[in-house]
Amino acid sequence: MPPFRVLITRRLPIELDELEAIASVEVWQERQPPPYEWLLEKVKTIDGLLCLLTDPINRPLIEAGTSLKVISQMAVGCDNIDIPAATVRKIPVGHTPGVLTDATADLTWALVMAAARRVVEGDRFTRSGQWKTWEPDLLLGPNVSGATLGIVGMGRIGQAVAQRAKGFDMRILYHSRTRCHLELEQSLGVECVSFDRLLQESDFITIHTPLSEDTHHLFGDAQFEQMKSSAILINTARGPIIDPDALYRALSQGEIAGAALDVTEPEPIPMDSPLLTLDNLIITPHIGSASVQTRRKMAKMAIANLTAGLNGRFLPHCINLEVYSAH
Ligand code: DGY
Repeated sequence: MPPFRVLITRRLPIELDELEAIASVEVWQERQPPPYEWLLEKVKTIDGLLCLLTDPINRPLIEAGTSLKVISQMAVGCDNIDIPAATVRKIPVGHTPGVLTDATADLTWALVMAAARRVVEGDRFTRSGQWKTWEPDLLLGPNVSGATLGIVGMGRIGQAVAQRAKGFDMRILYHSRTRCHLELEQSLGVECVSFDRLLQESDFITIHTPLSEDTHHLFGDAQFEQMKSSAILINTARGPIIDPDALYRALSQGEIAGAALDVTEPEPIPMDSPLLTLDNLIITPHIGSASVQTRRKMAKMAIANLTAGLNGRFLPHCINLEVYSAH
């Protein structure tokens, strides 16, 4: 009987042989996440938990996991996990930074282009039989090349987006918790500005900041008021960074021109959300990291974090390093 007991809350796109050599592994087989009550019971019996961003790993659940040695999340963002609660219990929490940077920046770029050039509207127009002739003013949108891009959050993904924007000769502004090194600013060709200036001067704004108390509803009525009426907002980070009611007002009243979201508040977006009635909004179902290669790398990294934690070794990618500091 392998020494450890592990729960994986969804099927992963890789083989689990190596893990199975050291642990008895239970994999939740449904497409929908396991119910919270089920997870709460299960956590009492396991040594390791591999979870996804859709699993609420809150304080009661962490406290119930009396034999839990490690929590490994298959995502870079861990806002679904009560990190302080895990840290108090000295449970390391693993995540998957780096491997999804390019995939997420690529999807961001797809959304910039799709929103600017009205790709989704064009597809709907064609399929509904409205394409009757070439028209000089059909589905016009703004230029991406040469426009001003505002990047909110200049971590790995923000930087990868800046790289892509360079290829489009864009003027690139950014606002971030910490300013980048001068050399990095120069090589990316980016200018650090206040949040207000970014809002006022950008033609496109793209969000790449983690969700925290500080960034919750960072975009609300006051911010939309400051943006250009021609501006387009992109969010591939976390849904609650934008106040959805304020976004609806801004898009329906022409305060901004368009938006493209890969993340929403809540997720999935309710089918009766007024946002779904808007033509100037694109919504994709949180697929920023959804390339075949990236999802495999994320799964492998999550397994590596999990096995390290089970064996009492340092996690290769640990979000709460404080667990390793002296007692
Ligand atoms: C993450 O990793 O945080 C993304 O949102 C999902 O890939």
